[in-house]
Amino acid sequence: MNEAQWASLARTAQAASGNAYARYSGFRVGAAVISDGGDVASGCNVENASYGLTVCAERNAIFRAVADGAREITALVVYTPTPEPVTPCGACRQVLAEFGRTAIVRCICEGPSVLEFTLAELLPGAFALPPNPVS
Ligand code: THU
Repeated sequence: MNEAQWASLARTAQAASGNAYARYSGFRVGAAVISDGGDVASGCNVENASYGLTVCAERNAIFRAVADGAREITALVVYTPTPEPVTPCGACRQVLAEFGRTAIVRCICEGPSVLEFTLAELLPGAFALPPNPVS
């Protein structure tokens, strides 16, 4: 990932937040991922009246990438319309671990601060199914 690619991914994440369905929280999040093949996918948070069925922007971006054929995600940007960056929730970290063990995550916001993590920093000891789980 060069800085031009990061900047492009950041713009895509910010644009995706414009589609957020944040009827209950008003918190509009956007995310964008790039896969090892160079394909980009974006997502926004989609809330639900049941609250618990809400899906975060990061998971929606990851699932869209996978649905389009990606299996290895190398970078993710999450954008929040906040003065300081916000980091992905635990569920999204575990989902990213499925497809991006070596992914780099950048958290961007309205302010100048940018946070950058490896997935291993965000989720040390991520669960992985052991071999032959049913034998
Ligand atoms: N949300 C995300 O989309 N990503 C995060 O990293 C944190 C939380 C969403 C879920 C919900 O729609 C709203 O933000 C408030 O939690």
